[in-house]
Amino acid sequence: MIMFKLICIGCKSEYSLNEIIYNCRKCNDLLEVQIDLEEVKDLINRRDLSLKPLSVWKYSELIPIFDKNRIVTINEGGTKLHKCSNLAEELGIKKLYVKNEGENPTGSFKDRGMTVGVTKAREFDSKKVACASTGNTAASLSAYAAKAGLKSIILIPHGAVAIGKLAQSIIYGAKVIAIKGNFDKALSIIIEASKSLGLYLLNSINPFRIEGQKTAAFEVCEQLDWHAPDRLIIPVGNAANIAAYWKGFKEFYELGFIENLPTMIGIQACGASPIVQAIKEKRDFIKPVDNPNTVATAIRIGNPASWKKAINAIKESKGTAESVTDEEILSAQRLLARKEGLFVEPASASSIAGLKKLIELGSIDKDEEIVCVATGHGLKDPDSAIKFYQEPIVIEPNFEILKEVIKG
Ligand SMILES: Cc1ncc(COP(=O)(O)O)c(C=O)c1O
Repeated sequence: MIMFKLICIGCKSEYSLNEIIYNCRKCNDLLEVQIDLEEVKDLINRRDLSLKPLSVWKYSELIPIFDKNRIVTINEGGTKLHKCSNLAEELGIKKLYVKNEGENPTGSFKDRGMTVGVTKAREFDSKKVACASTGNTAASLSAYAAKAGLKSIILIPHGAVAIGKLAQSIIYGAKVIAIKGNFDKALSIIIEASKSLGLYLLNSINPFRIEGQKTAAFEVCEQLDWHAPDRLIIPVGNAANIAAYWKGFKEFYELGFIENLPTMIGIQACGASPIVQAIKEKRDFIKPVDNPNTVATAIRIGNPASWKKAINAIKESKGTAESVTDEEILSAQRLLARKEGLFVEPASASSIAGLKKLIELGSIDKDEEIVCVATGHGLKDPDSAIKFYQEPIVIEPNFEILKEVIKG
């Protein structure tokens, strides 16, 4: 029996996995699952893992659930690590990969966390699950709740969620409520609602979400033939995913499955970059941004709930954080699509934009092995692709005109 417990990342108080708790009762800091890795060492090894196809649940010994028969899954994980030689050549580096998380069932990395989070909801016998969302968490939670037969309640910032994501939550049957306010406000209200109305909260302050999301780091190591890249570049919004990857890399390292750790590079949009500002000003705390703004709606977050975990991951890994403009994000989105055939949503393209910026700043060695995480599929936000690029050319149905247009 593997030993799991919840630990406060601030005062280190311990909690059992049997209670529903999101923050430390003593100091209100975030919680994290801690695993007795010595016990795990007796149960899994590299050779056995290599024989199984990639998926979140192939790492079940490292995921704190009690009953494997009650797992809520839509076959998440197992996303491709694309070798991007065309883009690498364009940027003047040698080894570039994109972990394309848009290949998950609802089109984003959130599914890795939701398969675990909704399984926990089932274990806790919760009937209603809830989240605040910039769109992808909502889409994912709605799908997994549907699969589990649970009711889902979604709070979104009105008018600020990409149309594809909204469509997903609606079709999966969630109760979608739009507030006249931003994501940060939505999160604070849903936390309050979850406490007083008994809703099981599935935002990423729920530590079980991280346990699913960390499996992306395990996959990257396997896909690179059992090592970590030199650098992992990842978009940062509410700031849990960067911490999840770092936890995954550290667990594989402590298990002896890899012999190196990557430096973690967090990328935020200029209009929503409290973590970048904290890192650049060498602060251990963030100053929330009041009116966050960026075309990358998924990371339009001014007061990231998991900022402390993100700053820890960046510091421990000797990494850094960088911000990119909307123009740089859209240009990177286009570049990735046109060089590699990968269509990712604007927030996802921020990792490519960040890579480009760091190369231009001379902070990246050309020989480094780099993995950029593309967090969500481009079709989730078709409006921005059409609006910011090129409308179709409309012509009369006439061959001569067509010929001229093609030549032109
Ligand atoms: C596509 C996409 N990228 C990045 C992020 C940021 O992830 P995190 O909030 O864990 O930092 C999100 C979060 O909603 C997202 O939807």
